[in-house]
Amino acid sequence: MSERIVFIPQKKDEKTFVFDTALFCPQDRLWLAPMQGLTELFFRKAFAECFPDCIDCAVTPFISVTHGDISKSIRKFRDAEPARNIGSLRIIPQLLGEETENVLKYALHLNQMGYGIVNLNLACPSSTVTKRNRGAAILKDYRKVDMLLKRLTDRHPFSLSLKMRLGFDSKKDLDNLVAVLNNYPLHSVIVHPRLATQMYDGEVDLEGFDFVYKHLHHRLIYNGDIVSENSFITIKERFPQIHDFMIGRAFIGNPLLAARLKYGEISHPVSLYDFYDKLQKYYVLYSLGIEHIELLPFEMQEKINLATMNKMKEFCKYFAFYRHLYDKTFTRAKTLTELSSIVFQTFQ
Ligand SMILES: Cc1cc2nc3c(=O)[nH]c(=O)nc-3n(C[C@H](O)[C@H](O)[C@H](O)COP(=O)(O)O)c2cc1C
Repeated sequence: MSERIVFIPQKKDEKTFVFDTALFCPQDRLWLAPMQGLTELFFRKAFAECFPDCIDCAVTPFISVTHGDISKSIRKFRDAEPARNIGSLRIIPQLLGEETENVLKYALHLNQMGYGIVNLNLACPSSTVTKRNRGAAILKDYRKVDMLLKRLTDRHPFSLSLKMRLGFDSKKDLDNLVAVLNNYPLHSVIVHPRLATQMYDGEVDLEGFDFVYKHLHHRLIYNGDIVSENSFITIKERFPQIHDFMIGRAFIGNPLLAARLKYGEISHPVSLYDFYDKLQKYYVLYSLGIEHIELLPFEMQEKINLATMNKMKEFCKYFAFYRHLYDKTFTRAKTLTELSSIVFQTFQ
C-alpha cells in the first residue's frame, strides 16, 4: 500500500503559507505529545528530517525527579541536551516529581541548560507513578497544586507549563484547580480531558474540557484522541479559541497526519518506509549510542539488532492500529531484517 503525499515548498513566514486545507489557521500550532520510550530524540530527529516544519513543538517524555546530587543523574538529561537536539524538533522538557524543592532544583538545572520553559507532569495515570503521589495523583489535592505553583512560579528564570487531566478519580475539584491555576503566571496548560482512573480508555470528556476552556486564563493546549482530519476539525469547531493541538499516538501511528493537517497536499515525497528506515537508524545511533555497528563483535551486533527490532515493533503496533492492519503482520517477524522487509512491502 503506497502512501505518498506532496509537500508545498516550505514557507517559513506564517503569513505566506498557502493552505490547501481549510483546517488550519496561521496561528494554529501542532505539538508532539510526550510518550516515554517513543517520542525520544531519535523519533523527533527522524520526524523533523522527514516532515520538516510540520510539528511546531514537542514536550519531551518525563525526566523523573529524584533526591540527591543532580550531577549523579546527568544521564537523565541526555534526551534534552541542546547540542544533541540541533536539527530536531523544538522542545520543552518535562519533569515528573512531587517534592517541590527537588522539582525546582531540576527545573533550574534545565534552565541552565538553556530552557526557558519547563513542563510539569500532573497527568501520568500509571499506578507506579501515582502510588508515589506523582503525576496525576497530585490532582487529588488542589492545595498541593497551589503549594507547588507558589514555589515554582516565584520569580525564577524559567516559565512553568503544566500537563494535566481533569482530575484523579473525579472532576469535583476542577473548579478549585482552575482557580488555583489562574492565580499564578504560567506559560501554558495542556489538558488531556480524562480522569487519571480512565487511563486512556473511553471517550474524551469534552464537557469537562469546556469548563477549563471557559474559565482558565492561560494558554490552553488541547490533547486527546485527535486521530484524523475529522477529529481535528471537531475540536476546532467546538473550541474556536484553541490554537494549540497536542497529538501523541496518532503522530506515531500516522506520521503523515501532521503534514496533512497543516498543509493538505505536499511536494517532497516521503513514504512511511523512508521514515521507518530513518527511525531505526536513529534509534541505534541516538538511543543505543552506536555509530558503527558493523565494527562490533557478532554477538554484540545480534543483541543490538534484537533490541532495535523490539523497539521498532512498538512503533509498528501503532502503524498497524492507525491503518487498520492486522498487528501480527509485524509482530511475527523474527529478525530486524525480516521486520524491515515486511514494513517495506507494506508501506513502500
Ligand atoms: C506509552 C505512553 C507513554 C506516555 N508517556 C508520557 C510522558 O512521559 N509524559 C506525559 O505527560 N504523558 C505521557 N503520555 C500521555 C501522552 O502524552 C498523551 O497525553 C496521550 O497519549 C493522549 O494523547 P493522544 O490521544 O494524542 O495519544 C504517554 C502515553 C503513552 C500511551
